[in-house]
Formats: sequence, C-alpha cells, structure tokens
Amino acid sequence: MAAVKRVPFIAGNWKMNLDHLQSIAFVQKLAWSLKDANHDFGAVEVAVFPPFTDLRSVQTLISGDKLEVAYGAQDVSQFDSGAYTGEISGAFLKALDCAYVIIGHSERRTMHAESDEVVAAKSAAAVKHGIVPVICVGETAEDLEKHGPSAVPVAQLKAALAGLSGAVDIVVAYEPVWAIGSGLAATPEQAEQVCAALRKVIADTLGKDVADATRILYGGSVKAANIAGFMREPNVDGALVGGASLDTKEFSDIARFQKHVGT
Ligand code: PGA
Repeated sequence: MAAVKRVPFIAGNWKMNLDHLQSIAFVQKLAWSLKDANHDFGAVEVAVFPPFTDLRSVQTLISGDKLEVAYGAQDVSQFDSGAYTGEISGAFLKALDCAYVIIGHSERRTMHAESDEVVAAKSAAAVKHGIVPVICVGETAEDLEKHGPSAVPVAQLKAALAGLSGAVDIVVAYEPVWAIGSGLAATPEQAEQVCAALRKVIADTLGKDVADATRILYGGSVKAANIAGFMREPNVDGALVGGASLDTKEFSDIARFQKHVGT
C-alpha cells in the first residue's frame, strides 16, 4: 500500500484558560521556543485554540510577526447571524482569519448538550465559511464497556458528516472521553484501531481521496513522553492536546515529536 503523505497536525486546545494578555505572551514564547529548536513548520503544523476573547490578539500577533503558528476557535454557531445570544458566527471567525474550529468536543457534548445533529450543523457552518472543522468524536468508559472501542466514535462521525459533501477539508479528532484530562491515555494500538475505522467512515461517505487527505488526530492525556507512540501509527496524523498545551516547553516538545519518533 502506497503511503499517503499527510502533514502531521499538533493542536493545542486551551479550553477556558489564558486571557487575551496571557495569550500574547504564550504564543510569543511558543513560537520562539519552536524557532529556537529549528522546528520545521512545513513538516509539522502547529495550531492553538484559544478562547474567543483571545482571538483578535492572537491574530494581530501572528500576522504582525509573521509567526508560523495556526489558530482556531473552540466552537462556532450553526447559524450565520441573528437572535442567538452568546453565540459566535463562522463569519466572525473567518474575519479573524481563523483557519480551524473545534466542533463537538466532549465537554460541549456533555456540558452543553450538543447532539450529533448540532455537531453536523456546526461542521457544515464551518465549511460554509471556509474554516476547517476539527470534528471531535469519542466514547465514554461506559460506551467502551458496552459497545467496544469503535462503535460510538464511528456513529458520531457518520452523523457529523451528514451535511458535508465533495472534496471538503476537515480534521477529525478521536478523543476517548475516559482519556481526557485523566492522565490515562489510550494505547497507540487502541488509537490506531479507532482512527482506522474513522478513516473508513470518511472513505464511505466522502470518498477515498478525502479519506486519504484527512488528518485524524488522537486526543486524551497526550504529552511529550507518549506522543511518539501515537505518531508511529499509520492512521494517527497528530494530536489534540489539552492540559499539556498550556506549557510552552511541553507543547513544543510534543510538536517536535519527530525528534523522538525516529523514522
Ligand atoms: P487532555 O485534553 O490533553 O488534557 O487530556 C484533551 C482535550 O480535551 O482535547
């Protein structure tokens, strides 16, 4: 089987951490620590996902200093505009040059009751506005026991892709809920098994070319010490990092996984 080249993607989900002033200092430090280490930004893409209120500051810093760090938002409204108090339109994110938006993170699915239908609508809204959705799927410990490893993430992804068609640019993140913030990461073999099943869902719904081009990330207690194992797997193309993305040294070590993966 010919190997398909996908640029690895290391994404930092800050969640509700770092205000806009802190975000400036953080991104500056991150960019410089990567540069200092001769990070090849073309070989491994690095992105941060700050809170909404930070995005303008992050945009100004990144564009002003021509930093090679990408950025995105943690959520987007399924609607374009109107009477949706507290919501943020994809058009607004596009106006801030957000390249990506996280959609359907398990914390939003559980704490904000986001259904598969909402996740599908938000994914379609992102694509409509020219933003790449980072679609999150993953099973709880209970799901794992009841249905095995792939059933729930596969069903969630099928539902999320319902409103998409053609040669869409998407990223998928497999994040087992039991591994998020728990310190108990999945094994690379577990991640590979589910990521391979997710790639098949993309092939079946959007075609082989899209499946081959789509980056599928693993997320859940990723750190510099375990990233290499995941990145050796053929269907894992990067990581969505929570806690460890708030430490510039740890996060840049994760982004520089090639140093400790070997080829
Ligand atoms: P974690 O979070 O790396 O802190 O486990 C991952 C996530 O929720 O995206």
